Amino acid sequence: SSTLPPEPRGLEFAAVAPNTEDAVVIPEGHEQAVVIRWGDPVVAGAPEFDFDNQTAAAQEKQFGFNNDFAGLLPIDGSSTDYLLVVNHEYTTEPFLFRGYDAENPTAEQAAIGLAAHGLSVVEVKGENGSGRLTPQMGRYNRRITGTTEFVLTGPAAGSDFLKTSADPTGTTVLGTFNNCSGGLTPWGTVLSGEENINQYFANAESVTDPTAAARLARYGVEGAASERKWERFDKRFDLAQEPNEVNRFGWVVEVNPWDPTSTPIKHTALGRFKHEAATIHVTDDGTVVAYSGDDERFDYMYKFVSSRKMMQGTGPAAMRSNLTLLDAGTLYVAKLTGDSPDEIDGSGTLPASGTFAGKGEWIPLLRTGEDGRGESLVDGMSAEEVAVFTRQAGDKVGATKMDRPEDFEPNPVTGKVYVALTNNSNRGTEGKAPADEANPRNKNKNGQVLELDDDHAGTSFTWNLLLVCGDPEAADTYFGGFDKSQVSPISCPDNLAFDPAGNLWVSTDGNALESNDGLFSVVLDGERRGQTKQFLTVPKGAETCGPIVQEQRVVVSVQHPGELDDASADAPASHWPDGGDSQPRPSVVAVWKV
Ligand code: FEO
Ligand code: CA
Ligand code: CA
Ligand code: CA
Repeated sequence: SSTLPPEPRGLEFAAVAPNTEDAVVIPEGHEQAVVIRWGDPVVAGAPEFDFDNQTAAAQEKQFGFNNDFAGLLPIDGSSTDYLLVVNHEYTTEPFLFRGYDAENPTAEQAAIGLAAHGLSVVEVKGENGSGRLTPQMGRYNRRITGTTEFVLTGPAAGSDFLKTSADPTGTTVLGTFNNCSGGLTPWGTVLSGEENINQYFANAESVTDPTAAARLARYGVEGAASERKWERFDKRFDLAQEPNEVNRFGWVVEVNPWDPTSTPIKHTALGRFKHEAATIHVTDDGTVVAYSGDDERFDYMYKFVSSRKMMQGTGPAAMRSNLTLLDAGTLYVAKLTGDSPDEIDGSGTLPASGTFAGKGEWIPLLRTGEDGRGESLVDGMSAEEVAVFTRQAGDKVGATKMDRPEDFEPNPVTGKVYVALTNNSNRGTEGKAPADEANPRNKNKNGQVLELDDDHAGTSFTWNLLLVCGDPEAADTYFGGFDKSQVSPISCPDNLAFDPAGNLWVSTDGNALESNDGLFSVVLDGERRGQTKQFLTVPKGAETCGPIVQEQRVVVSVQHPGELDDASADAPASHWPDGGDSQPRPSVVAVWKV
């Protein structure tokens, strides 16, 4: 290793060892501080957090639960002050309420749950000489919840599939749910993916029409009562009474955080599925490409290519124009082929070529015109059906069944595109798709990271696996060809980010190696390609999300601390971040070099 070039700037830290601490563990020579926690005040009038006396009225003004995506947008070109935008993916009621009775939730508990979902926009102030960020009660601060009004745009807006008794026009929705990851746009907005929306809707089993039932099943909407039982308090969550409310979720959401009075948008031209997120690459001619994974075992990878060009500038005219970029263009789904002549046997053994690699094509599904009308490119489906039941369109065209596509992230330096494929325990099991070159292990516990060289606005790409994750001592792992004795173990890649130099950072969720989840840096180019180092670990039971890697700090979302086995608010497995015998609180953390 003495012949290796120096480590890239910013990646010289000493790797954090795998551990099971109830703490955020960071490298030597670094410092950390919580930026904001569940229950902290966000908008004017918010009371201080009081775990044992929480109310919906308080929660609507406070930081929501289970922060996932995090983004920092500089305020007026400032190098110290930002808008922090965060997704609140979901609630785990046994952790929100002491003595929670899952069979008999109260109306107030349901209202608190709705208020703890959505997004937060919070001004944060930096300081010279540290990476600390301090929340401000600023003029942009906003809470978006499960009851905030959204407008639907694109080819499914106004369709019969989206009409309900409360909204006979099919154009206005209350709330956003299960906002997992997201992305910042170059025009100053935030995109957020509505992911596991199936869990909010009850009584799918009462739907007998075979077409409607098949659609629900394809989206994982099943059973009688829902987990949270919100259907007892609001009929929109009861499919027997409101069969279309579920179709109003599962979209990519766009929020303009610079106008707290703006109505957030659900863009139907990008299709409906369990969107992990949506992230943007802009081509030289201003065409906008939005990438999005459908996080389900054996589901697909998608991209949307705009027909409009991005307008430069930050003024109101540019914002108005750019807020329509995702409403006209073409939606595609990915089909991958491997180039190895060897059989892929599901063991994860590298082909003789030395890499898992191949070609791919983007198959068009739906074209949306400048007038907002959709044109189906799939035989036997209408444009509205392709937009609302996009998974079935992917099935029809033979898209490649992937190992749970999570974050997609284009590298801002090289333009290559990366996808975290988190795991797939069912790969190669009875009746399920066997391993293929892009998903090379059966019963895949540890996941892989895919690298695409994409003709962004075009329809072809090449691909290879950068990482086949797991214990580097195991034969079925691969770290970009780098010496496996010199890397950190990594399992279940979930969110991806780039530092300003174009190094990849990967956060994990569900580490199958019996240690805490964390954040890792990965070198992409040169002799150190594939070198993977753990930068931090998160507390017991937490996943690491929303990484942001700047020159002056790393920011992570610590989601669901303490959620292990049968833990609950009565017996939490974590007391992070407040310590003592306190309740665990999902929080955003900043880490910086001292
Ligand atoms: Fe919410 Fe796909 O992780
Ligand atoms: Ca996640
Ligand atoms: Ca995720
Ligand atoms: Ca995940």
